[in-house]
Formats: sequence, C-alpha cells, structure tokens
Amino acid sequence: MLKVVKLDTYHGRIRVLNTISLNVEKGEIVTIIGANGAGKSTLLGTIAGIYKPKAGQIYLGTKQTSCLPAEKVVREGISLVPERREVFDSLSVIDNLKLGAYHRYRNDRNNIDNDIENVLSLFSALRGREQQLAGTLSGGEQQMLAIGRGLMANPKVLMLDEPSVGLAPLIVKEIFEILVSLKKRGTTILMVEQNARAALKVADRAYILERGAISLAGKARDMLQDARVQSAYLGARLHA
Ligand SMILES: Nc1ncnc2c1ncn2[C@@H]1O[C@H](COP(=O)(O)OP(=O)(O)O)[C@@H](O)[C@H]1O
Ligand SMILES: [Mg+2]
Repeated sequence: MLKVVKLDTYHGRIRVLNTISLNVEKGEIVTIIGANGAGKSTLLGTIAGIYKPKAGQIYLGTKQTSCLPAEKVVREGISLVPERREVFDSLSVIDNLKLGAYHRYRNDRNNIDNDIENVLSLFSALRGREQQLAGTLSGGEQQMLAIGRGLMANPKVLMLDEPSVGLAPLIVKEIFEILVSLKKRGTTILMVEQNARAALKVADRAYILERGAISLAGKARDMLQDARVQSAYLGARLHA
C-alpha cells in the first residue's frame, strides 16, 4: 500500500535520511523505532510531503506521491498526526475534528458527520466534550483528539509521530489498544516511536532507524526477542 524506495532527505546540507526503503501493507501496523534525533520525524514529514526528498520515491498504491505538496498528499490518503499532538487549543473538540476533514467538504460532505460519530465512539473520553476547548483537555485526551483529527481525513494510511510521548503508561496502553481496534477495522498504520516496548507489542512489523538509516527490519514479535534490540531499545531505562 505504502512503499518508500531509497529515500534521502537533507536538512540544509546535512543528510538526515540515508537510502531509506520500507513498505507498509494494507491493514498492517508498522512501527519505526529510533532514538531521539534518529530522523523519525523527518521520515514521516517527507512521506507527508512537508520535506522534499533529495532522492528516492514514495508510492501510495501505484501513485507516486513524492513530488506532491503536503495538502495533495493528504488528499491522496496519507494523514500525519504530528509529534506533540498539535491540536488547536482555542477551538472546540468538534471544530478540531471538522478541520481534519476540511478537504472533504466539497466532494464527501455527507460522510463527515458519520465519521465524527465513529471517532467519538472510538475515543469515548471525547464523547460529551464536543464543545470543550481542546486546550483544556488532558494530554491523553489531546492525543486522542489529534488521532481523531487524523482519521477525519479518511486516510488510506494513518501516520503517527510518537503518540506515546509525555503520557502516563496507562494512557499509552489505552491509546495503543485503540490503534489495535483501528487496525481491526482495516486502518493501515505507520507509527514512529521511542517507546519501543509499547510499540513492538502492538505492531505487526518494525524497522529500527539509526542515524537516518534502517539498521534492522522484521516482525515486531521477533524484535522483542532480539538481543541487539533488547540491549539498545528495551533496557530498563526505557521501560514505559
Ligand atoms: N527542520 C529542520 N531543520 C534542520 N534540521 C532539522 C530539522 N528537523 C530535524 N532536524 C535535524 O535532523 C535530525 C533528525 O531529526 P528528527 O527527524 O526530528 O529526529 P527524531 O524525530 O527521530 O527525533 C536531527 O539532527 C535534527 O536536529
Ligand atoms: Mg521526532
């Protein structure tokens, strides 16, 4: 469904992504694990059309999206939930959700109310808070809203940039369980995480990103057992 081929992205003169190739099949949860500064956000930003790659291709199905600007990439079906859950603090929950669907108002307006209802049933913590200002939600609720807004774009692939960051372990568990239920409904998910243990528990497959390059790829369940992954990413210090 999503295929990345030999991607290079630079920030200025610094090469941040080095020949990245990966794929995400329909209905999978794929996670990219990497330390702070490894290039995770740059990778998702490049796929989302925010950063222009210097080399390589990105395909959604048979369509090449690597040359498209960010708003067209969203229309093609790739939605990014950015790091640190950027919700619009001074807008209500419902308006944040509607903003996620802004590009559908012309051609797909009839399904939007139904999709809002689906998001509220998925994230029951948001139910009854439709008119509450997003800035007054808890961190976990804001993350749920940010994911809900990503879903409102009706994406073929939902990308999440460190959804667990700054959240208590119980909230992380709740959010990751919701990702699994999204997968069961057929949503395809690409998620980057520093929280390797939590991410590997819910993912089907994983890639390890080290200083801009993929150093290891495989089934998430095998990675949890891999000695190199355990010592580098699953050590006691990193327990969530
Ligand atoms: N917009 C930017 N301009 C210049 N350098 C950047 C920018 N974004 C990230 N970088 C640099 O690129 C490297 C990778 O960053 P990033 O993709 O944010 O990593 P991660 O998300 O894995 O923490 C870091 O060295 C960071 O300082
Ligand atoms: Mg990042």
